Amino acid sequence: MSLGSWAERTTPDGAPTAVVPSMDASTMKLRAGSPSSPAVHAVDLAKRYRHTVALRGLSMTVRRGEVFGFLGPNGAGKTTTVKLLLGLARPTSGEALVLGSPAGDIETRRRIGYLPELFRFQHWLTAREVLGLHAKLLRLKRRERCADEALATVGLARRGDDKVASFSKGMQQRLGLAVALLGEPELVVLDEPTSALDPVGRHEVREIVRGLKQRGSTVFLNTHLLEEAEQICDRVTVIDQGRAVATGTLEELLGRRSVRLRVSGLPNGWWHCYARFGTWALEGEWLRLEGAATEVVPDLVAAVVAAGGRVEAVIPEHQTLEDRFLELLEAR
Ligand SMILES: Nc1ncnc2c1ncn2[C@@H]1O[C@H](COP(=O)(O)OP(=O)(O)O)[C@@H](O)[C@H]1O
Ligand SMILES: [Mg+2]
Repeated sequence: MSLGSWAERTTPDGAPTAVVPSMDASTMKLRAGSPSSPAVHAVDLAKRYRHTVALRGLSMTVRRGEVFGFLGPNGAGKTTTVKLLLGLARPTSGEALVLGSPAGDIETRRRIGYLPELFRFQHWLTAREVLGLHAKLLRLKRRERCADEALATVGLARRGDDKVASFSKGMQQRLGLAVALLGEPELVVLDEPTSALDPVGRHEVREIVRGLKQRGSTVFLNTHLLEEAEQICDRVTVIDQGRAVATGTLEELLGRRSVRLRVSGLPNGWWHCYARFGTWALEGEWLRLEGAATEVVPDLVAAVVAAGGRVEAVIPEHQTLEDRFLELLEAR
């Protein structure tokens, strides 16, 4: 399917498509499919399901080799985005390139591993048979070896000959992950990979994701878990109500700092005279100076001491990801 044909599309429910914004010259260069093309490049992706607008013009770029977190609350549009990127659903408008080819391209699909959010394997098959089936669909050579490697990677080496019916939810999730890893894909798309797992399982998945990165794979990780994004993602796009609200490394996203301060010996409300340092908030016995870089601390302390105050404690703080996340969502 050519990218040009996207403009004429109608939605599956027959609604007319919006005009597709054309990609600029720099984007055109990315189409070649060379290893230097980004893993994912989406421009103005939108998706409407009858009365629900799931995505409202999402643009983003995922670089090769990074662990990219797509972080947002339930219903934000994460699964919809993944479906559009894999060609499992069609965009109402906009377009995306995945590994340099239009989203949904069958040949490219073979180079992508995918763990869906909700899936069920044939319960009458053994884990090895499930993997064998998928290895066949991927037209892999040395299928048995690939299946064994994938089972070992997800910690199911000894359960390969057991039927899926005997697997706990967590083990089925691992099997799903094993299927996604078959054939060493260049891009691994994981949709909420740890939602069914206990803390040990979550830790193991994080280790597997780190291993994928070391191997040079790109990982696209949908998650609503801040902790997960914080622990394994190189960069994050925060999505809410179908729109990207922030993108960056966690350090960039958490760039705003604050300083907590405890001071005695000054009259109540003394901080109103120190607005030049930032915005003050009273929290019990503590004061929080929002938006303050650590560099202001010496001047601030000097000013307080000069006014006769006693500085009992100064604690520079990063905003937590949770605070920042809520702030981003509330700002909309
Ligand atoms: N097949 C569908 N038909 C109708 N609405 C859908 C469908 N899939 C998703 N939606 C709606 O689109 C929005 C985004 O859903 P989804 O992409 O699943 O969010 P997330 O994965 O971030 O939880 C939600 O409001 C959801 O109800
Ligand atoms: Mg989802």
